[in-house]
Amino acid sequence: MRILLTGASGLVGAAFSRAAARHGHAVTGIVGGFAGELPGLLARRTIDLGDEAAITAVVVEVLPDAIVNCAAVSEPALVEQDPARSQAPNVALPTTLARLAKKMKARFVHISSEQAFDGARNAPYAVDGATSPINLYGRQKVASEQAVYHAAAEFAATVRAPLLMGNSPGGRRSTHERMFADWAAGKTAQLFSDEFRQPCTADNLAEVLLELCERRELCGVLHWAGAELISRHALGLALREHFKLSPRRAPITAVTRLEKPEVARTRQAHLALDLAPLVNVLNTRPQTLAQQLAGLRVPPSSRDWYFAA
Ligand SMILES: NC(=O)c1ccc[n+]([C@@H]2O[C@H](COP(=O)([O-])OP(=O)(O)OC[C@H]3O[C@@H](n4cnc5c(N)ncnc54)[C@H](OP(=O)(O)O)[C@@H]3O)[C@@H](O)[C@H]2O)c1
Repeated sequence: MRILLTGASGLVGAAFSRAAARHGHAVTGIVGGFAGELPGLLARRTIDLGDEAAITAVVVEVLPDAIVNCAAVSEPALVEQDPARSQAPNVALPTTLARLAKKMKARFVHISSEQAFDGARNAPYAVDGATSPINLYGRQKVASEQAVYHAAAEFAATVRAPLLMGNSPGGRRSTHERMFADWAAGKTAQLFSDEFRQPCTADNLAEVLLELCERRELCGVLHWAGAELISRHALGLALREHFKLSPRRAPITAVTRLEKPEVARTRQAHLALDLAPLVNVLNTRPQTLAQQLAGLRVPPSSRDWYFAA
C-alpha cells in the first residue's frame, strides 16, 4: 500500500513508519522541523503543514492509498500558550486531509484524544458518549473529529488515543523521556496520585492505525488504549523500578489535585476508555503495563546521566 504520513518525526508517526515498513508498505513521511534519521520511510518531505497548497501538491504527487495524520501540536500546555499556532495543525489540517482523501478515494486515518472527555466520572467513556472537553486541546480534537466526519465520513477512521508511552525520535516527547530529562537535570518528578490514565505505547497504537488503513469498513470515531488503568504517580514508580533507578537518583513526589488546583483545572481526573467496538474486531491487542515497559529504552539525551552511576 502507498501511504502518506504526516507527523513522521513525532512519537506516533515514527512508530507508524517502522511498523508500516515491517508490513511491506511504502510510506512517504512529512516532517516539520526535525532533521534526524527516521527509519522505515521510503521518501521524506519537509513541509509546513499550515501550507495547504504544499499539502495538496504532495498528495497529488504520492497518490496514496491511505493518508495517516499523526501531525499535531500534541501538548495541551503548548496549545493553551499559543492557540493560533495549534489551530492549523490540529483542526484545519485534518479537515484538508480528509477532503483530499475523499477526492482521491483514499483511506484517511486520524488521531484524536481521550481529552475529548472531562474525566469527571469513573466509568469508561464509550465511543458514542457525549464529548465534554475541559481544555483548548480537547476542544480542538473534538472539532477535528467533527470536521473529518463531515468531510469524508465513508473514508475516515478517527482514533481517540490515551496517554502515550514509547521512544520518540528526539528522545524528549514521551512520559518516561520527560521524567528522565527531569532527573538528569536534578529535578524531582511531581506526579498526581489521583489522576488516572490508561496508557498505551506508540508502537501498539501504530499497529492499530496500520490495521485501520487496511480495514476500510471501520469508520467514524473509535477508541484505543492499554489494558490497565493507573495513576500517574504509580506509573512513575513503575517506570523508575523498570529502569532500576533508586529513589535518590530518580526522586518522585506524589501530589494531589487539591494541592495543585491551578494545574488540575485543565486536566482530567479519570480518563478510562471503553475500547468497543475496535477491540473486538482487530488483531492487535491492548498491552498490559508490563508489556509496555518492556519496549522502553533509556533516552539518548539521558544516557550519560543514566550510565554514570
Ligand atoms: N503523545 C500523547 O500522549 C498523545 C495522546 C493522545 C493523542 N495524541 C495524538 O496523537 C497524534 C500524534 O501525537 P505525537 O505524540 O506523536 O505528537 P508529537 O510527538 O508531538 O509529534 C508531532 C508531529 O507533528 C509535526 N508537526 C506539528 N506541527 C507541524 C507543522 N506545522 N508542519 C509540519 N509538521 C508539524 C511534528 O513535526 P516536527 O517535529 O518535524 O516539526 C511532529 O512530527 C496527535 O494527533 C496527538 O494529538 C498524542
